[in-house]
Parts: sequence; structure tokens; C-alpha cells
Amino acid sequence: MAETFEPKNIIVTGGCGFIGSNFVHYVVNKHPGVHVTVLDKLTYAGNEENIAGLPEDRVELVVGDICDAELLDRIVPGHDAIVHYAAESHNDNSIADPEPFLRTNVEGTFRLLEAVRKYGVRYHHVSTDEVYGDLALDDPARFTEETPYRPSSPYSSTKAASDMLVRAWTRTYGLRTTISNCSNNYGPYQHVEKFIPRQITNIIDGVRPKLYGTGENVRDWIHTEDHSSAVWTILTKGRMGETYLIGADGERNNITVLRMILEMMGKSPDDFDWVKDRPGHDRRYAIDSTKLQTELGWRPAHNDFAEGLRKTIEWYKANESWWRPAKAATEARYKAQGQ
Ligand code: NAD
Ligand code: TYD
Repeated sequence: MAETFEPKNIIVTGGCGFIGSNFVHYVVNKHPGVHVTVLDKLTYAGNEENIAGLPEDRVELVVGDICDAELLDRIVPGHDAIVHYAAESHNDNSIADPEPFLRTNVEGTFRLLEAVRKYGVRYHHVSTDEVYGDLALDDPARFTEETPYRPSSPYSSTKAASDMLVRAWTRTYGLRTTISNCSNNYGPYQHVEKFIPRQITNIIDGVRPKLYGTGENVRDWIHTEDHSSAVWTILTKGRMGETYLIGADGERNNITVLRMILEMMGKSPDDFDWVKDRPGHDRRYAIDSTKLQTELGWRPAHNDFAEGLRKTIEWYKANESWWRPAKAATEARYKAQGQ
């Protein structure tokens, strides 16, 4: 299928976070004619180092808040698209303190949509499969674009609200938008608060990994580079007003993933602690990405999870100076929560 939209000058919000920075690397490497303006507030989850070393004539960082309408008035004109990754993204933080999630995820999306309305730019909204709630462990069903919204956590409810704003603004004001809802990402530059990096860095530190509840909860893992290629495909080929689910058939329960990490790092597969479960813990996520694959021809490239996990472990071993500054505070927060 021919590309129908050829962006030249895009804004990537949250481009100093985990998935946003991987997308910036992806665009710089694969699409030489595109300039990227990263708009990022550099919260605890944002790190300038994630995009350090990229060519200065291709990538510009604007440090600022997506809720700042005056800032958006200054930077949006002259760009042809916004790809919106910025968010408060961690479920456990949303349970401890939901307010920043309301502000960044809901009000921030509202501000961006108002700027899109004013300046007529193309908008892609990056969201999560968690808006659909969870599936039973023994349910053969997977999420599709038709699954009703049923978010369970403060985080997923604010992402669901943001998706609804996009749909309403698109229908009412005729904005040129697409939405994607992706499953759990893994890969380099993921904050040590998240499951896979937390366990890898605990093992490096000689601390026993922590497994919530029974460990049977299932997540549908996708390499972050496959998420990036999917978002680029939707940005350039997607039909306006449509939602596309992104997933790579990567369902595994948490105990399986944890044991893989332990064994790959030379530990006994039982060398971990069971800890208190997350309140309202979603049981299973699973994505059916048939629409994206058949309509837009996207395919994941990282189909070997064990290989991707091994490379991710190597990345955290080789980049201790990147994650070390955040580790102690993250673990102190978990300890206070009994996790
Ligand atoms: P992250 O927490 O690693 O990064 C978030 C980034 O947004 C940080 O750089 C932070 O500084 C920035 N940010 C936060 N508030 C801001 C504000 N008010 N203004 C400007 N910048 C701000 O998150 P992530 O895991 O990379 O997730 C990125 C996006 O992908 C989110 O929208 C998330 O909902 C979605 N998503 C994540 C996953 C996952 O597995 N992590 C899966 C599906 C979808
Ligand atoms: P997480 O990376 O927080 O992603 P999400 O909540 O968006 O799925 O957690 C992934 C899974 O791992 C989730 O079922 C919770 C579980 N988990 C643990 O068992 N131990 C941990 O230390 C963490 C952070 C998560």
C-alpha cells in the first residue's frame, strides 16, 4: 500500500521517556527526511540521555509541559504532525497518587487537541490496551478494536478518558487523528520501576526479585521497536478517525517471565520473593492485531521473546550509569508500599 502521508517535521511528546525515545531513534534511523521536535517535561520518568547523541539538525528538545497552551502556540505552528506519547505511565504510582495522571493524561491531551484544532496538524494518539480492562485467565478471547472500554486502574481510566477526548474532538471538529492501543512494551531505556527492568536491576544488585500476588497474571509483551514501526505505519498509512490495536502475540504470565530472567542471569528459577498483590490487579491482557496487519500490512520484526529479553538484560548490564540514579528511590517507594 502506498504511503498517503509523508510527514517532514513532527512533534513527539514524551520523547525522553521509554517508548517515546525509542520512537525518536526509530524515526532518525529509518526516515532520514524527517525532523523531530521532542516536547518533554523531563519528569522523574524523562531523561535527556535517552536521545543524546542523535544528530542536532534532526532532533530538537523543547523542555516543557503539554498542559502549557502558550507553549503549544509557540511550537506547534510549522509542524505537520504530533505523535503523542507523554503520559504518567505507571499503574502503581497511579494507585498511590492519581492526581498527576488526571492532569497530564487528561488535561494534557485536551490541550494538545485544542492546538491540533487551531493549527490543523495531523495527530496520532498513543494509548494502551489497558483501557479495555482485563480478560479471565481461561478466556480464549483477545482484545479487538470493538472491545468495550472497561478500565480498572486510575492510570488506565485516565488513558481511556484521553482516548474518548480524541474520538469526540475528531467527530465534532473534524480533526485528522488516529489512535493506537498497544500491549506491554519491553526493551532499552525502560524505567526501573517497571516489571522487567526492576527485576533485572534487582538481580544485578543482589536483591531478590519481587513477584506480585500469584504471578499468574498475563501480559502480552511486544518489543518497543515493533511498537515504533507500528506507530509509524499508522501515522503514514492509517485511515483518519480509526483505532488500531498493536500487539505481537507475546502472551506470557509474570512468573514465566521472571523465571526466564533469573535463569538467563545465572540464578535459580525460585530465587525470588512473593510480595503483596497490586490492588485491582488486571489478570490478563491479550491483543488481536489483525486489523493493523491486514489493513496496513504491518508485521512485528522481533518474534523471539527470549532473544529480545537476553538483549534487554545485556543493555541493563552495559548501561548501569543510566539506571543507577533512579534505583534507590524507586525501591524505597516500593518498600513503603510493601512491594
Ligand atoms: P514513560 O513514563 O517512560 O515516559 C513518559 C514521558 O512523558 C517522560 O519522558 C516524561 O518526562 C514525559 N511527560 C510526563 N508528563 C509530561 C507532561 N505533562 N508534559 C510533557 N512531558 C511529560 O512512559 P512510556 O512507558 O514510555 O509510555 C509512553 C506512552 O505509551 C504513554 O502514553 C503510555 O500510556 C503508552 N503505552 C505504554 C506502554 C508500556 O508498556 N509502557 C504500553 C502501551 C502504551
Ligand atoms: P508493569 O511493568 O508495572 O506493567 P503493567 O502494570 O502496565 O502491566 O507490570 C507488569 C506485570 O508485572 C503486572 O502484572 C504487575 C507485575 N509486577 C510484579 O509482579 N512485580 C513487580 O515488581 C512489578 C513492578 C510488576
